[in-house]
Amino acid sequence: RITRREDYREPDWRVPEIELDFQLDPAATRVVARLWVQRSSEHDRPLVLDGDGLTASRVRVDGVEVPVEMDGPNLVVRLSGSAHLVETEVEIAPERNTQLQGLYASNGMLCTQCEAEGFRRITFFPDRPDVLSRYKVRMTADKARFPVLLSNGDPVGSGALDDGRHWAEWHDPFPKPSYLFALVAGDLVANRSTFTTMNGREVQLGIWVRAGDLERTHHALNALETSMRWDEQVYGREYDLDVFNIVAVDDFNFGAMENKGLNVFNSRYILADPDIATDYDYDAIAAVVAHEYFHNWSGNRITCRDWFQLSLKEGFTVFRDQGFSADQGSAAVKRIEDVRGLRASQFPEDAGPLAHPVRPDSYIEISNFYTATIYNKGAEVIRMMATILGPEKFRAATDLYFERFDGTAATCEDFVRCMEDAGGTDLTQFRRWYSQAGTPRVTASLKQEGGRARLTLSQTVPPTPGQPDKQPMVLPLKLRLFGSVTGRPLCDEQLIQLRDPTAEIVFESIPEPPVLSINRGFSAPVVVDTNRSARDLAFLSAHDDDPFARYEAMQQLMLDTLVASVTSGRPDHDAVIDAVRNTLTDPALDPAFVAEAVLLPSDSFIGDQMALVDPDAIFAAREALRRDLGREHEALWRSAHEAVRNNRFEYSPAGKGARRIKNVSLGYIAASGARDAADLALAQFEASDNMTDRQGALGVLVSSTATEQRATAIDAFYRRYADNALVLDKWFQTQALSSRDDTAQAVEALAAHPAFTLANPNRARSLIGAFGVNQRAFHDVSGRGYRFLADQLLALDKLNPQTAAKLLPPLGRWKRFDAGRAAKMRAELERIVATPGLSKDMFEQASKSLD
Ligand code: ARG
Ligand code: ZN
Repeated sequence: RITRREDYREPDWRVPEIELDFQLDPAATRVVARLWVQRSSEHDRPLVLDGDGLTASRVRVDGVEVPVEMDGPNLVVRLSGSAHLVETEVEIAPERNTQLQGLYASNGMLCTQCEAEGFRRITFFPDRPDVLSRYKVRMTADKARFPVLLSNGDPVGSGALDDGRHWAEWHDPFPKPSYLFALVAGDLVANRSTFTTMNGREVQLGIWVRAGDLERTHHALNALETSMRWDEQVYGREYDLDVFNIVAVDDFNFGAMENKGLNVFNSRYILADPDIATDYDYDAIAAVVAHEYFHNWSGNRITCRDWFQLSLKEGFTVFRDQGFSADQGSAAVKRIEDVRGLRASQFPEDAGPLAHPVRPDSYIEISNFYTATIYNKGAEVIRMMATILGPEKFRAATDLYFERFDGTAATCEDFVRCMEDAGGTDLTQFRRWYSQAGTPRVTASLKQEGGRARLTLSQTVPPTPGQPDKQPMVLPLKLRLFGSVTGRPLCDEQLIQLRDPTAEIVFESIPEPPVLSINRGFSAPVVVDTNRSARDLAFLSAHDDDPFARYEAMQQLMLDTLVASVTSGRPDHDAVIDAVRNTLTDPALDPAFVAEAVLLPSDSFIGDQMALVDPDAIFAAREALRRDLGREHEALWRSAHEAVRNNRFEYSPAGKGARRIKNVSLGYIAASGARDAADLALAQFEASDNMTDRQGALGVLVSSTATEQRATAIDAFYRRYADNALVLDKWFQTQALSSRDDTAQAVEALAAHPAFTLANPNRARSLIGAFGVNQRAFHDVSGRGYRFLADQLLALDKLNPQTAAKLLPPLGRWKRFDAGRAAKMRAELERIVATPGLSKDMFEQASKSLD
């Protein structure tokens, strides 16, 4: 069954008010729902309430019991008038809910995940985002097992009952769609604080966790307060309820969920202390806390009309959380990280069988569309509009959007219209960013002719499934020219908008040979091919005044070098070696930036540049360059490592930068083949006072051939953290990312380890997800990696289709591999599609991947 965007119709019935009554019990929870329904127009269609696996034990209309009528999984209620009270009762079993959608049990607590279509697994309801209701929720549960009862909005009452049970009632004054409903029941404690909003409203904040985790919530709480202030200052958005709660749960399909006033988080995005969390984890926690908080306006106050508009809230909210993170530390490093992430996940998606527009036209299962395209390309689309409008007009446009659509379910088109109205600009052609899939490619060539420079630009958008022919896009490109002799800028930074298939720009009075700096700050999410030489790129990597462009020049130089080495078999590493030396020894640079800049592109990103991916040749070429860089600059790596070796942990931009360069240096020392590298890594592993350095050292050792030190670290890490699930995930993940020859076998063995389970999504992803992105190990020529992944996915599909389907894409990239590998990959996809009882999540991903 395919759902299409063009088939959108207003709901037949609205539900302005709903009351829910939960008798909570892990084995059998009784849910009574009272819906005050109103016919939305003149029609005689019945009320159809979505259900998924529900059986109504009783249905009443205006207090009178009526026969239960089903249409497949849905409940049909025949109504005579235009306004009625419809009451239903169902029983559900949270402890048997392995899908983790709807109401489920996690580590002794009960919690919900309703986005996108989980509410229909709790009660019968028009489960679509354009039906907005005011919720009153009453929960009753055993007081000893579930002392804390939370839901959306404000608490309005609670009390004890005689039988050891107790109850609590919550009212949410803001109308919301069902996907934002949440409840939590458990034995939890809170790290509490209060926040005074810009207009003096006192908000009670609480981060709820199990008692032993309380000390690990300070960073998240701090991030929450910082993001609340930031949204006031940067977007003028104020919080609107008296309480804001966050609950951390261990079993969660995604990162977190923005339920109104009650965010539910994967515990990996809440819990941190230096012993268990890396700097990456700390940053991710702050970013996700901010993201979910920002949804209160971009998502909750204004929600989506239908799920095709998902990027309306997700793209915009990612853009907002990226801005927040950029303001907390180095904006340049944040941009580099975001672009690296986009290239690692979204570009391959856009180039493969699952490519889809930022606003898709159809889906089989909406869960499959919580993608890098919707989130991250969606954020880039917002960023481009912000670039085109400039900061003042962009702020005016978001103000207009929040005012015009507050309390409604809106569309991407509504958002773009606000950009046009407040920006005074026509975005007609720009809208293609919402409708056309595929990463645009720009070719830029610069020629000097006498005292002028002539820049020729052209663009193409590659065909994608269902979209063979593409129209030209609007590409905002920031560019600048530098003199290759003096190093001086030859013009100011310019923002040009490439709209046509080709364009030419002439620069007057160019006194010396110019070098092109283009797509500065990654102003457009495109691939740029230029005719720049290794010399030009090395020059930019040392002199460009835009830090992103400087990083980019180095990356391009490395990529060109590696691709040439793979295709010719004759490596020439000199230019990269010199450029890395210049960067390493430039005292003006931020160490965090240096660490990013000297890192080689990943195996898979190198593969993405090539029509046919040869994983072994790519690995060999990259290792050879790493070894040469390690050897040539061994003294520099050692002194960089040594200089910060004994730093005490401090979570600050400077502290993070030091750890970053320390671990990158350790990696290069090991790559050099130095005899003492494993001992140095083990010493760091044992002496470090924080997880960043410990996991950094473990990563080096896991890929090492120093059998003894390697085994020591793997074993010590396991024993130290055997009872901490989040850290054990790192143990599995680090081994799945190993660059050793035997990784495919090792991963198979880890899947049989007693601590491995498919029931916990974090654990499943830590091994299977990490293995899928380890290009060389996954594409082991034997095909065992493909078979392993398919076996695991089929097993996981029975428990948790959403999480299983998300891990399938590596198998879908068969077109890019040699005939032998491609046939083996296809055979696994065919085996998946032919499996009886396959979920629609998996069916959609696997069948599309075969086309
Ligand atoms: N809205 C959540 C967020 O971006 C993600 C929810 C994902 N849920 C799902 N079923 N796909 O923060
Ligand atoms: Zn989101």
